[in-house]
Amino acid sequence: VRKMTDLDLAGQRVLIREDLNVPIKHGRVTSDARLRASLPTIQAAAKTGAKVMLMSHLGRPTEGEPAEEFSLAPVAERLGELLDRPVRLVKDYLDVNLDLADGEVVLLENVRFNQGEKQDDDALAKQYAALCDVFVMDAFGTAHRAQASTHGVARFAPTACAGPLLARELEALEKALATPARPMLAIVGGSKVSTKLEVLNALSEKCDQLIVGGGIANTFIAAAGYNVGKSLYEADLVDQALALMEKVDIPLPTDVVVATEFSESANAVVKGVEHVADDEMILDIGPITAERFAALLKDAGTILWNGPVGVFEIDQFGQGTEALSQAIAASSAFSIAGGGDTLAAIDKYGIAEQVSYISTGGGAFLEYVEGKTLPAVAALEAAAEA
Ligand code: 3PG
Repeated sequence: VRKMTDLDLAGQRVLIREDLNVPIKHGRVTSDARLRASLPTIQAAAKTGAKVMLMSHLGRPTEGEPAEEFSLAPVAERLGELLDRPVRLVKDYLDVNLDLADGEVVLLENVRFNQGEKQDDDALAKQYAALCDVFVMDAFGTAHRAQASTHGVARFAPTACAGPLLARELEALEKALATPARPMLAIVGGSKVSTKLEVLNALSEKCDQLIVGGGIANTFIAAAGYNVGKSLYEADLVDQALALMEKVDIPLPTDVVVATEFSESANAVVKGVEHVADDEMILDIGPITAERFAALLKDAGTILWNGPVGVFEIDQFGQGTEALSQAIAASSAFSIAGGGDTLAAIDKYGIAEQVSYISTGGGAFLEYVEGKTLPAVAALEAAAEA
């Protein structure tokens, strides 16, 4: 694909699709990781003297109903602070001649307010394309969506290219998945096997060891023949879990943290995995298991991490995830992490600096790992060949 960094953008109208879909509370951005990740792209474009139009979705509003709660206004404000210059929010931009100065940066209002955005409507994609000389796709987090602002516009823009953030994301994922330093270890946590089955299958082909955590691990523990009591697990996926265990080494916990209730005040008890009682729930891995897993992480060449191994939001069930976070931080492996919960854990345990690459993608990260083609990337490839 073409790259933004190879083009001369001086004086050009440059439309950059970012994923600025960030959490907002009471009109303030509560986590600006995605905004910070997009800064180098925005700064590079502005510095060359381009007229920069940023566009993004926020949340999942009803199309055609520009509800205030889904406005990008708080994002424009926070971006302005981060860039140290005001970022104007433009509400009307379709079929309008936006008069921008060279080097100016504006943010177009939520693309999901536009009729046809989610349907990847050609007419809307052409309206976006008409705004620019160069379209830059930089929203890795939304690259798995074939929508007018991520996919359609690339077909109609005079020039379409990949932005630096998208390029970095793809490079890091390729390094971890296509040419991993061995041994390669993946950690897949989260509540349900059913939502991660494709990821588990894809990783079972690639990695040397697969650590499962959270509710997902419970299904494997049940498959190994242990009582999981009241734990969250999926009885109908036990056979799939067994099949996965045949394909790849999946080390299971030997000790676990259990409680009889799921709450902040729950009494956490460490037990051998064979002693879980009928009225107990497994909510974290135990300390012996954490140490065993940490040793594996220390010796890994590549670590891919998606999902916590316990209910880390509650401190007494967070020690497993904390121990693995510290082990990843201390490991010399190339480590890549993605997904909302994983990023929250990285923040909570303060290891962001020590992870080799933190992806801005949630769903897009998983789809890439599953081996799926990301439609927005495919559109750039097609545009480069046209
Ligand atoms: C995300 O947060 O995963 C992306 O921004 C995509 O959002 P969507 O799932 O609403 O398309």
